[in-house]
Amino acid sequence: MSATQLTAAQVPDHVPPECVWDNDFAAFLAEGDDPYLAGGRLHDGPGVIWATNASHGMASWIFTHHQTVQEGFANARKFSSLRGPLTEAVMNPDWMLLPVESDAPFHKYYRQVLRPFFTPEAIGARQAEVQALTDRLVDSFIDRGECEFVSEFASIFPNAMVVSLMGLPQEMLLQFLEWEEIAIHGKSAAEQLGAGIAIHDYLRDFVEEQQRTGKPASELMEAILAGQMADRPFSQDEIMGTVYLLFIAGLDTVFSSMGWIMKHLATDHALQDRLRCNPQDLPAAVEEFTRAFGVSAPSRIVAEDLVFEGVPMKQGEHILLPTYLAGRDPRAFPNPHVIDIDRRPRHVTFGLGSHVCIGIHLAKREMQIMLESFLRRMNHIRVAQDKPCTYHTSNTIGLDCLPLEWDPV
Ligand code: HEM
Repeated sequence: MSATQLTAAQVPDHVPPECVWDNDFAAFLAEGDDPYLAGGRLHDGPGVIWATNASHGMASWIFTHHQTVQEGFANARKFSSLRGPLTEAVMNPDWMLLPVESDAPFHKYYRQVLRPFFTPEAIGARQAEVQALTDRLVDSFIDRGECEFVSEFASIFPNAMVVSLMGLPQEMLLQFLEWEEIAIHGKSAAEQLGAGIAIHDYLRDFVEEQQRTGKPASELMEAILAGQMADRPFSQDEIMGTVYLLFIAGLDTVFSSMGWIMKHLATDHALQDRLRCNPQDLPAAVEEFTRAFGVSAPSRIVAEDLVFEGVPMKQGEHILLPTYLAGRDPRAFPNPHVIDIDRRPRHVTFGLGSHVCIGIHLAKREMQIMLESFLRRMNHIRVAQDKPCTYHTSNTIGLDCLPLEWDPV
C-alpha cells in the first residue's frame, strides 16, 4: 500500500493514510498476463482501500477481501444500491437501471416483475432453445478445427438469448454486437457512450412501438409494460430502466465468464478428460469456474456516515465490490488460483442478498450447455499458440479474443 502525496480533493481528510491506494485500478489489473493474479496482489493489504483512480479517473472505495465484498452485498442498510458518483460520471441518464439501482421498499416491485421469467423452472423450459443455439454456433466452425471463441461464440450467444427473451427482432443481432463492441472498445469515452446511447434509443423506440400498438413483443415485455409500483403503474423511466438493464446485464457478464472458463479449460487437459467422461460433474465445474472467474464489480454508495472495518466512511461515497477479487481471496478459498471442481465454493460472483443476480440460473445453464457441447464435440481443446489472446480490464474484465484449436472426435 503506498500512501503518497495526493491532493486533498483526491483523498478526503477522513480516509486513513493506510487505506490510500494511489493507483489506476484497471491498469493495475492489466499488469502481467492474468488479471486475477494481478488483482490478487491486493489481498496482502487491507480489506477496504481508497483508490485514487478506481474507474475512469474517479476515486472510490474498493472492497478487496471476500469478507468485505460479501458484507458490501449483504448489508443494504449501510450500503445503498442507488447510483453513485462514479457511475454518474461515466453514464448518467435521468432514469435508474432497475432493479439494480434501487433500494427497499421499491426494489421488490421492480424485481418481482422479472422473477417469474428467471426461476429454475422457467429457465429449464428454455433448455432446448439454449442447446439449439449452442449447436448452431458450434456447427458454424466445428469442421475448421479452430475458431476465435469470443467473436464466433461467446459474444453472439448471450445476445441471441436476450433477443429471444425480450422478443427483439432477430435481424438486429449484428447491429447489437456492433454497438456493444464500440461500447467496450470504442476509441474514446465519448464513442463508447455514444454506442450506449444508440442501444438506449433503439430500446426506447422498441418500447414505444409496443405501447402504441398494444402488442407486447414477448411475455417478459408484457410483464414489464404492465409493471406496478405499489398502487400505480411503472412510469416510462421505470420501464426504460428495467428494459435497458435487462438488455445489458446478461451480455458482457456471460461472454466474459465464458471466455475465462474456456481459456482455462483449453489449458487443463486433465479436467477436459474428467468432464468428458463424467458430465455429472459439470454443475460442480460451473460453480468452481464462476468462483474463480468473477468478472464484474458492482457499485454501492455509503448510505450514512459510518465506520466499517475500523474505517470511517461518509454518506454518498462510492464503493466498488469486485467479485474477481473476492473469489480469489486465500482467506476464503485456500489455493485460490487453483481450479478444483471438488471445492464446492460459496462465492459471491453473482452477488448476494436482495440484488443477487436474477439471471443466475440462466447463466449457469448457458455455461453448462456450452461446456458439455464443446467437450462432446471436440477433443484436446487448446489455445492456438501463434495468435493473439488479449483481454480488457475495467469494471468488467473479459477476453477480447481467444483463438482455440481442437482435434476431431
Ligand atoms: C455469468 C453471468 C453473470 C454474472 C457474473 C452476473 C453477475 C451479477 C451480479 C454480481 C449481480 C448483483 C449486482 C448488485 O448487487 O449490484 C447481478 C444482478 C443482476 N443480474 Fe446478473 N450476472 C450474470 C448473468 C445475468 C443474466 C444472463 C441476466 C439476465 C438475462 C442477468 C440479469 C441480472 C439482473 C436483472 C440483475 C439485477 C438484480 C437486482 O438488482 O435485483 N444477469 N448479476
